Amino acid sequence: MEFERHRRLRATSGIRNLVRENHVTVNDLVYPMFVEEGLSGTSEISAMPGVMHYGIDAFRREIHRLSELGIPGIIIFGVPSEKDEMASSAYAPKGVVQEAVRAAKAENPDLVVMTDVCLCQYSSTGHCGIVRDGKIVNDDSLTLIAKTALSHAEAGADIVAPSDMMDGRVARIREVLDENKFEDVSIFSYAVKYASAFYGPFREAAHSTPSFGDRKSYQMDPANVREAMREAASDIAEGADILMVKPALSYMDVMRQIRDTYDLPIGTYNVSAEYSMVKAAAMQGWIDERAIVMEMMTSFKRAGADIILTYHAPDVARWLKEEN
Ligand code: PBG
Ligand code: ZN
Repeated sequence: MEFERHRRLRATSGIRNLVRENHVTVNDLVYPMFVEEGLSGTSEISAMPGVMHYGIDAFRREIHRLSELGIPGIIIFGVPSEKDEMASSAYAPKGVVQEAVRAAKAENPDLVVMTDVCLCQYSSTGHCGIVRDGKIVNDDSLTLIAKTALSHAEAGADIVAPSDMMDGRVARIREVLDENKFEDVSIFSYAVKYASAFYGPFREAAHSTPSFGDRKSYQMDPANVREAMREAASDIAEGADILMVKPALSYMDVMRQIRDTYDLPIGTYNVSAEYSMVKAAAMQGWIDERAIVMEMMTSFKRAGADIILTYHAPDVARWLKEEN
């Protein structure tokens, strides 16, 4: 009988190491962090065990710890103390994100500091664009979104990451950055962002649940993949440097297709509920957290992601260190 001996290459860990196709390294990781204006110390986000809101001093200390772990990048989310209709705390020169960027860069100039660019945490409506007559208006939102991105660049951000899903935001941000001599600041576009229930714990953490309606008129329909290709194409044409697919676990087919179609670097966002589900099961003793998380990270690489934004980043960095 003729058959192939696939098991030969699985026989020992040495052989398995030699033939492994995809690897997770600490260099792939970006840690999302919530910085809260006026908070002293930290407070844990209840639906995301182990994930904190940081006051600015605690944030600075955490940057130190992450740098020791070798994590190359963070993405900052702000929790401001004031919200208004024009989301003015989003682009305030001394806003919470702007101050956090300065603190992170002061603590470790080599850290890649990314900022989430959006209006939802800062606007009284909780929507990612500005609202007029009950509608999220596209073109007028672009001005404020670009203004927010510029204020992050002025504070020292290396990469701005617009997550609002308004059309044309990448072009407008690029234009405003270039006009102000920030040609070297990159745009990591949340190009393919679905209207997902997996953002639930994040919205609690960021206090950004919409006060009316939902985000389905700007975020993508989870049923669509051809549309993802059109979103990616327009963001590339508008000047995006890196594309994101978000969420991660349920959208790996999309990630693979984006990887095969375009040649930009791709990031994936392993979002809040993906984290919470793992944590909840781990705390019950139902799963092996470390093995599950590492398998997920490896799967993101296999699906084509270059960059992984994940709340598991500090744990993954620690586990990778232990392996070496
Ligand atoms: C805000 C934003 C969201 C996330 C990142 N930026 C929430 C949303 O769009 O409703 C989700 C992140 C997560 O769930 O971890 N525009
Ligand atoms: Zn938003």
